[in-house]
Amino acid sequence: MKFFVDTGDFNEIKDLSETGLLDGVTTNPSLVAKSGRNFKELIADICKVVPGPVSAEVAALDYEGMVAEGNVLSKIADNVVIKLPLTLAGLKACKHFSDAGIKTNVTLCFTPNQALLAAKVGATYISPFIGRLDDINLDGVELIENIRQIYDNYAFSTEILAASIRSPNHVTQVALAGADVATMPPAVIRKLADHPLTASGLEAFSKDWKATGQSIL
Ligand code: E4P
Repeated sequence: MKFFVDTGDFNEIKDLSETGLLDGVTTNPSLVAKSGRNFKELIADICKVVPGPVSAEVAALDYEGMVAEGNVLSKIADNVVIKLPLTLAGLKACKHFSDAGIKTNVTLCFTPNQALLAAKVGATYISPFIGRLDDINLDGVELIENIRQIYDNYAFSTEILAASIRSPNHVTQVALAGADVATMPPAVIRKLADHPLTASGLEAFSKDWKATGQSIL
């Protein structure tokens, strides 16, 4: 499963890209607003440090506006992915960009039928928001499982990009459900490496090693 980081924080992206764990980046208008950065400059900077796919979301709500904005965003760098909302206008824009060979990420997906529509218009990625479903007492992971089965039934190549991930447990669950990608806040990626037994074990090993008085170098 590929790991994308879901943030507009350039320093976090740069730092995580140096771990070798990062396959790509997703942003959205709320994350861009939180960063306080100029959107196009931020995307250009991210694309310089991350060679993998970088999703940049259109702001327009109508087809013509989405196509115009997507054309501008796609020229920022070769690895920009145009992020489009799951509306009829967004799906039409997705078809336009798919036909032009430009990668797309259809976002704000909450049902298997919405994911089916995105695959039919050739989306590169579908972004089901699992945390927001859990927030309203529905089952976000079940959505990933259902989309996986539908895409496999018809051999769709659209990749399932599990989004709105809130915890390391979500990461395990979407990996088991067959998501192709998980996009996570930086804090969740960092927490994946943590375990109290790893920490206490390492502390004991370090103490015992110091007692030997030896040096490896
Ligand atoms: C994905 O593309 C979205 O940016 C993101 O995962 C939304 O997450 P949230 O529900 O925590 O805002």
